[in-house]
Amino acid sequence: MFEHLHGLPADPILNLMVQYRQDNNPLKVDLGVGVYKDEQGQTPIMQAVHAAETHLLASETTKTYIGPAGSEGFCFQISRLLLGNDHAVIKDQRITVAQTPGGCGALRVAAEFLAKCDPDTTVWVSDPTWANHIPLLKGANLTITEYPYYDGENKAIRFDAMMSALETAKSGDVVLLHGCCHNPSGADLNHEQWNSIAELVVRKGLIPFVDIAYQGLGDGLVEDTYGARLLADKAPEMLIASSCSKNFGLYRDRTGAVMVISANQTQASVSASNLFSIIRGIYSMPPAHGAAIVETILGNEALTKQWDDELTMMRERILQLRHQLAKEIAACGTEQSFAFIPEQKGMFSFLGIDKAQVAQLKDEYSIYMVDSSRISIAGLSSSNIQYVAQSLSAVLKG
Ligand code: LMR
Repeated sequence: MFEHLHGLPADPILNLMVQYRQDNNPLKVDLGVGVYKDEQGQTPIMQAVHAAETHLLASETTKTYIGPAGSEGFCFQISRLLLGNDHAVIKDQRITVAQTPGGCGALRVAAEFLAKCDPDTTVWVSDPTWANHIPLLKGANLTITEYPYYDGENKAIRFDAMMSALETAKSGDVVLLHGCCHNPSGADLNHEQWNSIAELVVRKGLIPFVDIAYQGLGDGLVEDTYGARLLADKAPEMLIASSCSKNFGLYRDRTGAVMVISANQTQASVSASNLFSIIRGIYSMPPAHGAAIVETILGNEALTKQWDDELTMMRERILQLRHQLAKEIAACGTEQSFAFIPEQKGMFSFLGIDKAQVAQLKDEYSIYMVDSSRISIAGLSSSNIQYVAQSLSAVLKG
């Protein structure tokens, strides 16, 4: 029976990690997968995470099952981190939160939830969007359609075109929005644009679905939630997928959350029963360790401060790398301007070069990035940034 299968291409992002590991060039640079790296090119365990783990190791008394929703304490903390302590959807008990295996788990559970509400649901995604959004949504057989988002020529958001496209959406359609640090473009909506989107979504009866995987890595922990909080204020129904992979550095511990906001408390309990039944039918319950770390940190003032300080340092370092990269490229005398890089947010930006140039950077210079020319800024460091700028410049000059 297995002979009916056809081989599939490797994942465009994850496969870069494999290729990079196999490359023996001492000058190699990994700008592929979105993973924070320090000056030494390491992805360190955050100190607050270490401290929480040490505490857990000493105090944990059981490894018994935690149930489909995961830890109540984690769900409580993570919804407050995202929406603030006093948000009306929390006070009015309109929100259901479940701990998930990373942001991908949250997205997939949310997709199954939408399919259960209506198998004919259409989800609007940004053009471009994160490569894994499509398989995660398609896995639940949802219909996917795109709204224009990033203009690669002008390095700007195609906001008017985005709004015109969403004007054609029908009531009940779902709009997937990147809460902050748009992946892959780094181009984020400003407050005025979020306000217009919120107005449109409510007027047309659309369901906002916010994917927020980089909270704290754009402008700040609270600043990065502007869109999510606004939509939670205004829309009667909403979905949120959040991830602790990047901001807590818990990549392999698979820690995230799915949040479903329902129109009222009665509906919320119906939504919750469906959400938990979907989870039970896929992976039964989430892994506990990463979420226990987050819960420990967010439940302790000193650890929260330590974590916030570390996150701030990471955010500031990424921003400084953005400035430095634009400066180094300009110093090489390239014709094109890369002044847009420091204006963008979070881990990613497109260099705006073509596939052949991306391949040349990989084959001749051992500089790895996604085919679309998306780079992970955190893969840069003071020891490789000049090499990257000079290599890029050489490729651009042909
Ligand atoms: C990325 O976009 O590089 C990250 O979100 C990692 C992933 O799973 O693709």
